[in-house]
Amino acid sequence: MTVRTEIRPGPDATKPKWWRRPWVVPLALVVAVFLAFSVPPYLTLDPAQSRVSAPPGFTAHYWFLVAHITFGTIAIVGVVLQIWPWLRQKHPVAHRRIGRVYVFGGALPAAVMAATIGAVSPFGPVVAAIDVVAALLWLGFTVAGWRAIRQRRYADHRKWMIRSFAMTMHTLMTRALSPLGFLVVMPRVEAKTELILSAATVSGVLSLLALLLLSQWWLDRKPKRASAR
Ligand code: HEM
Repeated sequence: MTVRTEIRPGPDATKPKWWRRPWVVPLALVVAVFLAFSVPPYLTLDPAQSRVSAPPGFTAHYWFLVAHITFGTIAIVGVVLQIWPWLRQKHPVAHRRIGRVYVFGGALPAAVMAATIGAVSPFGPVVAAIDVVAALLWLGFTVAGWRAIRQRRYADHRKWMIRSFAMTMHTLMTRALSPLGFLVVMPRVEAKTELILSAATVSGVLSLLALLLLSQWWLDRKPKRASAR
């Protein structure tokens, strides 16, 4: 009689290695570069260093902006850690703790501030509308992701948090797309102010659309692993 020994792969054997996930390190680098370039002027707490002009009559605007950037920094660093598969799989307790910080000490307050300053954006009404919509989606997706995990709906949690992650990238994506915005509008617009407003509008609209489409594409591409987990 032959005895057959079945060798089953352990849980780690089916998991792709970190180098098979080529987005983790580049994403962290892009976020680090974004923070290194955009945050320092606000560390001085000097309104004269602000790159965003305050609308007349809204004296607290600068402090809302500083609060938005502080919570936004916590959110963007937190979300990069949260979507890092290694940390999620090896350190679930850290994932839960960082998740709480991301939701309550980052995304939710940053989104409330973003909606407030976004509504009076100096870059015109379309950018204002886009910013408010992005901020409300950020708020809604994050709350939905939080509720899903409290109710142990893991697949829903993953789905909403991937969308929340996408919205966290809105300011970064808008900045990354602004050269494209200028390229698109330069042949059509000559006046400097109109050029800046139009380019900001194009990059803001493209950013929101790209992030929503990319996150949906990602979810459609990997639906099974979500429900399995
Ligand atoms: C849905 C997400 C977000 C929305 C809707 C949003 C919205 C805004 C708005 C309205 C402004 C003022 C400038 C303007 O009127 O366009 C702003 C500025 C800024 N935001 Fe956000 N933001 C988001 C996420 C983040 C995150 C996650 C960070 C991370 C640090 C961040 C960092 C900044 C910085 C640094 C500025 C100042 C821009 C500059 O100096 O050029 N934002 N954001």
